Amino acid sequence: MNKSQIPVAQKDVLSLLLDDHKEVKKLFKEFAAEKSQAAKEDIAREACMKLTVHATIEEELFYPFLRAQNPDAFGDLLNEALVEHGTAKELIAQIQATSIEDDNLYEAKVTVLSEYVAHHVKEEEDELFPKVIGKKVDLRELLTSVTERKEELLHSAVAA
Ligand SMILES: [Fe+2]
Ligand SMILES: [Fe+2]
Repeated sequence: MNKSQIPVAQKDVLSLLLDDHKEVKKLFKEFAAEKSQAAKEDIAREACMKLTVHATIEEELFYPFLRAQNPDAFGDLLNEALVEHGTAKELIAQIQATSIEDDNLYEAKVTVLSEYVAHHVKEEEDELFPKVIGKKVDLRELLTSVTERKEELLHSAVAA
């Protein structure tokens, strides 16, 4: 999805979410290319953290806002998205609970997570976001809370 084509009412919030998608995809690419085990684990940890922050923002703010705006248009897509988040979070929890040294399935888990995420992100970008634009949902009032919550979550994740 091309940011420059997003109308102003949806631009800032969707751009923030698109940037997150891009960042996480880049981390998964780096993970696949990296040779050092320690560096791989660092990259996987960061990807899991960023994904958790992103999923939390969507679940706490973005998805409920869309559902409240138009339950008929968004309900089914959002339910699927929540199930997909649930599956991703289970894998994230497994990855976070172990280490690359102790778990010979570690790399496979990260690879499968990256595939889940690629699938989910594609659905958001090809179906959900175009629908948000098509239904002319004005996301501007959501921008401050999304930005602030993201900052807060990133801050507490770094501090942890
Ligand atoms: Fe999502
Ligand atoms: Fe997303």
